[in-house]
Amino acid sequence: MPLGKLLRESQVVGVVDTFFGDSGKGKIVDYLASSGLFSINLRANGGPNTGHTVMAGNKRVIFHLIPSGVLVPGITSVIGRGVCLEPATFFSDYRNTLSINPEAKVYVDGSAHVIMPWHIALDNLREAVRGKENIGTTGKGVGPCMETRDSRIGFVTLEDLLPFSLDLEEKIEAARLTVLPQITELMRRFDSDEQLVKKHSSARGFLSEIGLGNGTNVGDFFRGNDFAVENIINVYAEYGSRLHIHLTDSLALVQNAERRGGRVIIEGSQGVFLDIIHGTYPYVTAGLTTRPGLEHDAGIFIDTCINVVKAYATRVGNGPFPSEIKDEELAGRLREAGREYGATTGRPRRVGWLDMPALKHALSLNCRPNERRLVALTKLDVLKGFEPKIFLDYTDKRDGAYIDFREYKGIEDIGDVKNIEGLPQEAHRYVGNIGELSRAEIVMVGKGPGREEIIL
Ligand code: IMP
Repeated sequence: MPLGKLLRESQVVGVVDTFFGDSGKGKIVDYLASSGLFSINLRANGGPNTGHTVMAGNKRVIFHLIPSGVLVPGITSVIGRGVCLEPATFFSDYRNTLSINPEAKVYVDGSAHVIMPWHIALDNLREAVRGKENIGTTGKGVGPCMETRDSRIGFVTLEDLLPFSLDLEEKIEAARLTVLPQITELMRRFDSDEQLVKKHSSARGFLSEIGLGNGTNVGDFFRGNDFAVENIINVYAEYGSRLHIHLTDSLALVQNAERRGGRVIIEGSQGVFLDIIHGTYPYVTAGLTTRPGLEHDAGIFIDTCINVVKAYATRVGNGPFPSEIKDEELAGRLREAGREYGATTGRPRRVGWLDMPALKHALSLNCRPNERRLVALTKLDVLKGFEPKIFLDYTDKRDGAYIDFREYKGIEDIGDVKNIEGLPQEAHRYVGNIGELSRAEIVMVGKGPGREEIIL
């Protein structure tokens, strides 16, 4: 069945990543949103650790919280209750949105948990204390925010920030009591403020953005001196009064639209191997990133799941990456060709070749056994001139690592290709092999960053 027909027959389409995120979900979501078939685009998991890149003409826009279909007129964008929301990031996404789509409708679930300054402090401090053994988090406070949510102590939800809420002061006080002792304890490990300032330029930017410090007092921030209740209440109550008009019950909104026959795109965050349960623990994010996890966070089932697979592999942050390219010169060339720098942190991404056992495992988690396994293969154009490999098997034996892989000749230019059948020889063999080996249908191939640069 052609993709268009399949989409018309589905009510809820999920877009998920099969590896470590950064596969180009944003572009696929934007493309689907522009088909005119969908009325709602929902972000259901993760937080501002995510960076989804969308091209608006020649302009590159990176969304951290607002779903990527927001630039398409007529789409209602919704941030669900499973997302950890950092208000300053939300408003910066919203400003970017309005500059391109002034009519954009953006809603946020009132039950979503708010990332507070102490979550960011904890995230960064823990990473600094872990030293070389760090996870390589994005430092956006998502892990600690999910932690206070899940512990049910010291949390703040979006509704708590609203002008008529009586809870904010109480919630902040509870958070101070729960979280501050941890911060004080971690702070003891540092000799000087300079050490901290050096390690946490990201926190400095955040502080000046929310008006809690001017960038010179990162030490104060980490010591909790900026967590004075009145300061926090003022800044966050102000956020609340601005967020008020965006508030919704995401579940009711989506379910009502479904009942009226509307179609929904759910946009996943990160990727299968960053999932807290199924990923490369402990080098994972704090939440759920598989398709069932996304369904759980969204509160609705996905009818059609599009697995986004980048034509080569990347990972940002630490943790296992068996198909990583060890040759630094080659890795550097591929990184530059694919502009592989973190969309949220700017960190250079580790790069590697496509890992087939991992892809098969990810598809087994994201697809039901009797379901069509749909893959959108992105960034194939980046491989132009490269001789990629597909990793077929690997084991770490005592006498050295064993690796089996298939090699390809230089991938051709695919700029003028109109459909998947029309791919030149080596590119066609590469794409065909990925489909056969993973038992998936490659339904889209990306040939450039633009919305229209997709081959069907
Ligand atoms: P955290 O989500 O900031 O706690 O980071 C945990 C791990 O997930 C780190 O390896 C991050 O680099 C990675 N991570 C989090 N969000 C993303 C994303 O959107 N793309 C890629 N990696 C991510």
